[in-house]
Amino acid sequence: MSKHKPVVFITRPIPQAGIDIIKKHAIVKLRKTDSVISRKELLAGVKQAEILLPILTDTIDAAVMDAAPKLQFIANYAAGFNNIDIPAATKRGITVTNTPEVLTDTTAELAVTLMLATARRIVESDTIMRAGKYHGWGPLSYLGMQVTGKTLAIIGFGNIGQRVAEMAHRGFDMNIIYVNPHAVPKLERSLHAKKVTLQQALKQADVVSLHVPLLPSTTHLLGAKEFKQMKRTAYLINASRGPVVDELALVRALKRGDIAGAGLDVYEREPKMTPGLKNLSNTVLVPHIGSASIETRTAMAELAANNIVAFIRGKKLLTPVN
Ligand code: DGY
Repeated sequence: MSKHKPVVFITRPIPQAGIDIIKKHAIVKLRKTDSVISRKELLAGVKQAEILLPILTDTIDAAVMDAAPKLQFIANYAAGFNNIDIPAATKRGITVTNTPEVLTDTTAELAVTLMLATARRIVESDTIMRAGKYHGWGPLSYLGMQVTGKTLAIIGFGNIGQRVAEMAHRGFDMNIIYVNPHAVPKLERSLHAKKVTLQQALKQADVVSLHVPLLPSTTHLLGAKEFKQMKRTAYLINASRGPVVDELALVRALKRGDIAGAGLDVYEREPKMTPGLKNLSNTVLVPHIGSASIETRTAMAELAANNIVAFIRGKKLLTPVN
């Protein structure tokens, strides 16, 4: 692909910095509407594309690949790539990249924000103020849980999980326990983090924060049985992928008081969410904004673009997936 300018189909507007990089090397076909692309539009859009830049809500399965006979490269605009059928891509000789690392700090910040917001009942308190229902300070009013010194269980100790651990330990003196396929000795030394089993984590933690990728083995990792193993005073934070949690079981656990509250950035059937969640005062619910800072979304666009440029020039890819 040296002289010829390939067609890059971008399924939704991304920060201009990324588009500008791609434009120098390719013909950009940008879908300008800022909404989730329909299946029909996606299938039509990829027809002429040699390169595809999808976002995490675009399901790129075998049918999409087969509708794109010229497709050679997919630069996913996300760190997670559960939206792409990787074996199907590999089978068709299609290379896939993602955008890890550039979103680590921003996503970790969001997980910590959710932890503080749930434990200190921020949204509930804000609602009281806005409704004019604050009738004066009270020794027993709006009591939450102090996170300082408490135990934080991080399930999935990759880049984001480790960053959350650093923020929580350095900022709030939290004891870090983690569940991961392999040990991370560096953080065991610097943060005194301790590797435990999932059962031990659920039993010991005051806050459980999920940072695993979505895989068959992590789907519904937490359900009714696991919520029962958690402390009744514990909080659940999920800024990973919605289907990691059985959302219906979570609503039931929150209603029953099996756990104290939940801070969620992701949902099992996005953009929908289990209706019961919004009727509970012990949930903090945000619309998948883990990576939503100007800095990070720009860096994600640049990384996806630079992967595309590297592919066009036959250079080493920055963040290959397959
Ligand atoms: C990702 O890139 O996987 C994140 O979920 C985006 O917020």
